[in-house]
Formats: sequence, structure tokens, C-alpha cells
Amino acid sequence: MRTASARAVSTARVMRRRRYLMCRPAHFTVRYSINPWMDPGVPTSGETALGQWKRLHDLLVELGHDVDLLPPRPGLPDMVFAANGAVAVDGKALVARFRHPQRTGESAAYQQWFGDHGWSEVRQATQINEGEGDFLLAGDVLLAGSGFRSDPAAQLEAAEFFGLPVLGLTLTDPRFYHLDTALAVLDDDEVMYYPGAFDAESRKLLADRYPDAILATERDAEAFGLNAVSDGRHVVLARAAERLAGQLKERGFEPIGVELTELLKAGGGAKCCLLEIRHTQARRTVAHESAAHIPLPESHPA
Ligand code: ARG
Repeated sequence: MRTASARAVSTARVMRRRRYLMCRPAHFTVRYSINPWMDPGVPTSGETALGQWKRLHDLLVELGHDVDLLPPRPGLPDMVFAANGAVAVDGKALVARFRHPQRTGESAAYQQWFGDHGWSEVRQATQINEGEGDFLLAGDVLLAGSGFRSDPAAQLEAAEFFGLPVLGLTLTDPRFYHLDTALAVLDDDEVMYYPGAFDAESRKLLADRYPDAILATERDAEAFGLNAVSDGRHVVLARAAERLAGQLKERGFEPIGVELTELLKAGGGAKCCLLEIRHTQARRTVAHESAAHIPLPESHPA
């Protein structure tokens, strides 16, 4: 066991246990195109998608995170990208309003999930809002992307709903159409991003706020290396983003490469598959109380 003084001098990164919502790609395919990665003419394999997704799921569980599963619905091939379904902070869930009709049916599934799981403040966004695809919580500020999907007006709505400051960022490169394809939050005040995905004003905002940010190359951004998930220590990202993995190591993070090439055919990667669920203290207390009424196995020997 590490002593307190050893910890004080150690630069080791500390993992924070997270809860994620994921959705099995049971109906995954590419049959429409709503981003430059999607070509319905390119065949996809449901089996490969499932296998790659399952490895991501199992990895997160092995790392010690909690993963809840949202039941997939037929006819919604992009539903595997759970990040887009909502933004959930401190027990409040702002459910997505999708830009494209092909995905609008997904919102009801999130509305239902949060309702069924006892979240009292659940509301569908009135503005176009593609959830954690465009809204990333960094410490106590919401970084919010617009330009392709979420409407700039969604930023004010999110700021009011969550009572959090929002830093609006404008995306300009259609390959990086959601904020989470161009920027990843590594820790409360550390990020990595690809400057070429943003307009000049946003680049300035990012440089001012995060002068020490890791800057990704275009190549690593194209490999979806920024569509990464960090727990403060482990950073799960596309295996092909090798240079980025090296940059993360230099900063004391533990990069873990994953292969999600099948989902990339739909323009998605690791982060797209996860929605972080952040409960309030109140909610955790309620969960504890009800758990206390469930008899423990050892009090009922078989
Ligand atoms: N095909 C999906 C779309 O275009 C991919 C979504 C990826 N999700 C994300 N969080 N970037 O909407």
C-alpha cells in the first residue's frame, strides 16, 4: 500500500469510478448517410460490430466501472451511439433532440430509461441537442459544440437546466461533426483536442482555458483518437491513434487502444458508445436505502 507521503510526491493519475449507459449494436448497419463517414454502399458486419462493442464493454467493466444497458430498439441502427441520447449531471437528465429524422426515435428510449430509473428531473431538450456528442462536462463547466448537429441555442438551454457555465465551441470540419470527435476531457481541467476542427475564436478560447492541452495531429483525429473515454487514469481510445497514445503516456495517463473499425463506418468510436450517468447524492442514498431491504445471500443459506 502506498503511504500518504509517497502519494504526495507521486505523479500517478487517479482513476474515478464511473457509471456508463451503453446500448448493444443489435440493429447496427449503415443504410443512410448523415455524416461524411457513412457510405451505405460499404457493407457492414453486425457480428464484427457486436464483437468490437462487447470488447469495449468488457474492458470498462474490468477497469472497475459500472455499465448499465439500454435495450436496443429495431429500426434505429445508430442507437449504439449512446453518448448522443442525453446529458446527465447530478441526477438531472436533458434528453436529446436529434437533428436528423433517422435518429429522432431514439429520444423516447432515453426518456423512458431515466424515468424508469428514478430520475425525477428528466426533460427532452427543446432545441436540437445531441447529448454528450456535443456537451462534455469538464470539472464544473460544460464544453458545448455546435456547427453541425446541436444548435447554438441548446447551449443556453443546457446552462439553465443544469445551472452550469457553458463554453461554446464552433466546429468547422465536417469530419468532426460532434464535439466528442474533436475533443476529449481527460480530467477536470485537462483536455486533448484537434485545433483544425474548430474556428479561430474557439481555438483561442481553448488555448486560453487549456494552455497545456494535448494537441492531436490530424491523422490521430481522423483515426477517431479523440473520441476517447478517460476515468482520470485510463484513457480508452482508438488503437490506430498511436501518437496520441504516446502523448498521453508522457502525461502519466494509461492509454488503452481499442478497435472499433466497424462502428467507424457510421462515424463513431469509443466515446460515442458511452453516456456517462452522474447521480446526485440524494439518488445514491435512495438506492442504498432500497438495497437495505433486499436480503443478502449469506442471510439465506441454500
Ligand atoms: N452515425 C451517427 C450519427 O451521425 C454517429 C454518431 C456518433 N456519436 C458521437 N457521439 N459522436 O449521428
